[in-house]
Amino acid sequence: MNDLQPIVDAAHAAFALAATPADLENAKAQFLGKSGRMTELMKGMAALSVDEKKTRGAAINLAKQAIEAALNAARQALADAELAAQLQAEALDVTFPGRKHGQGSLHPVSLAQERIEAIFGSMGFDVAQGPEIEADWFNFTALNTPEDHPARSMHDTFYVEGGSATAPNLLRTHTSPMQIRYAVQHVKKYRALAAAGSTNAEQLFSGAMPEIRVIAPGRTYRVDSDATHSPMFHQVEGLWVGENISFKDLKSVYLNFITTFFETDALKLRFRPSYFPFTEPSAEIDIMFETGPLKGRWLEVSGSGQVHPQVIRNMGLDPERYIGFAFGSGIDRLAMLRYGVNDLRLFFDGDIRFLSQFGS
Ligand code: DAH
Repeated sequence: MNDLQPIVDAAHAAFALAATPADLENAKAQFLGKSGRMTELMKGMAALSVDEKKTRGAAINLAKQAIEAALNAARQALADAELAAQLQAEALDVTFPGRKHGQGSLHPVSLAQERIEAIFGSMGFDVAQGPEIEADWFNFTALNTPEDHPARSMHDTFYVEGGSATAPNLLRTHTSPMQIRYAVQHVKKYRALAAAGSTNAEQLFSGAMPEIRVIAPGRTYRVDSDATHSPMFHQVEGLWVGENISFKDLKSVYLNFITTFFETDALKLRFRPSYFPFTEPSAEIDIMFETGPLKGRWLEVSGSGQVHPQVIRNMGLDPERYIGFAFGSGIDRLAMLRYGVNDLRLFFDGDIRFLSQFGS
């Protein structure tokens, strides 16, 4: 027995060293093969007596079984390792780009909107946010577009639940409703201050109430979809109401805005007569670049006009005293022009490879 244990130990050690199934089979041959050490021992039994053969044979068999058990364990360990390695290799697709935790970047429309807010902010305009689900009153009626007014058909409106049968709620078709919402709040606030004595009521209509100067950027919705229209788009509304505001102010404010937005003075502005129910007179604002890829073409960028007296009245103000201008520009359109994008849908497809090119 004593001379057998070292052989069993040697087999264990040899099997443990085998790194591949082929190594292991070679090691097996050294112990259990035709001329392996165990086979040699068996052969050596021929010279023994019957009794000796019994005990020696039993001992050799035990040692052989131990070696076989060690061999099977080593085979299983190699097979397990091979499977684990294979699973790991298959789980890793080396053609995949590395997983970086990108920093993210602002959407080009958000970048354009931030720019617009900063520019108008520098001209003393407040920035107001309003609801996207809007009441018929704010979206249409208060803007001098009563029910059955033909101008309502200019907007393909998404109606939603709520409101009344004759005036259902809707997804705002433009940011113009913010003219009324903001102005009404503004007027209420300063009337309340006057009533509480903190503003001289006498002065309320002679300068104590600050002018209304606001922009309202945000999402708007219409049933429309092609390369230059999306059912969801973005507008920025502008409003300036005071006692002495004229088209001249509209022109200088808009020119200042647009040249700053596009970072160029090589740009012409044109007012083209138009119609909007909430302005009178009304105009489309066109711009023309004098340099660059868009050079020489008039591009429509905004509706505008002098606020209609009925709208001034709906703000709670006297149109005999107050006057103002308003404009409504497409933010997506301005972003397309600024970034040279010719299909609006690219902004909303959600392809990060496209969108991440603009942010910083
Ligand atoms: N709300 C108009 C539209 O969506 C755009 C517009 C035109 C806004 C003239 C104005 C304006 O404030 O004065 O088509």
